[in-house]
Amino acid sequence: MSRIKIVAGNWKMNNDATQSSDLLNALKAKKLTVSADKKVIIAPPFIYLKEAVDTLKDVNGFAVAAQNCHHENSGAFTGEVSATMLKSIGCEYVILGHSERREYNHESDALLAKKVDTALAAGLKVIFCCGEALEIREANTQNDFISNQIEKGIFHLSAEQLQHVVIAYEPIWAIGTGKTASAAQAQDMHTNIRQHLAHKYGADSADKMTILYGGSCNAQNASELFSQKDIDGGLIGGASLKADDFATIINAR
Ligand code: PGA
Repeated sequence: MSRIKIVAGNWKMNNDATQSSDLLNALKAKKLTVSADKKVIIAPPFIYLKEAVDTLKDVNGFAVAAQNCHHENSGAFTGEVSATMLKSIGCEYVILGHSERREYNHESDALLAKKVDTALAAGLKVIFCCGEALEIREANTQNDFISNQIEKGIFHLSAEQLQHVVIAYEPIWAIGTGKTASAAQAQDMHTNIRQHLAHKYGADSADKMTILYGGSCNAQNASELFSQKDIDGGLIGGASLKADDFATIINAR
């Protein structure tokens, strides 16, 4: 299996301009060695993206992601940012389908499928998030729930397009709660996701998919999570805001 491993930092709506510059420069100053099969992705708020691209452009193995984009490419959409704009400033990835956007911005499966298409058409790669709420986990229906989210969001893509998508499994009950999924719970879900992908796209395509875990992943638990067979790295929120912790996670295997 030659899957690319990814550690992505989702800053969410955190850091002012000075804090953002300091964090980018602190990460750069660490001179981390990122092996060829690995990528580090930084996802700051829109207004810091260009600076992130410029600061990290000659840092080996690093790329920049936006936390969202609009489903149309241009037009009268006041306050919105398009995939083409992101691509034009050197952004490589966009995070779509994060549970916070599904909940607070009412982003539906259908809207997300459209965003995925727009992003891919603009030449961005997509980090597509899925995750179940606590009630679903307690009812033990999480596998079907996640399979359904993935079907609705990305199963309209061709196998070729799928190669530009990374999946991030983020159980909502674990996001920002300090209550991480156990390595076994995460591995089980990642197997479920990979099997579901194999069913639709074949085992080879499924094997090549990078599937990240997110939800209270931190410097202490990252190596146990990342050592699971089907966990190919993490999407990190809180712990990506501290250069030392994030560097430890990047180095975790
Ligand atoms: P967390 O967030 O690491 O702070 O739990 C993860 C995410 O929402 O991407």
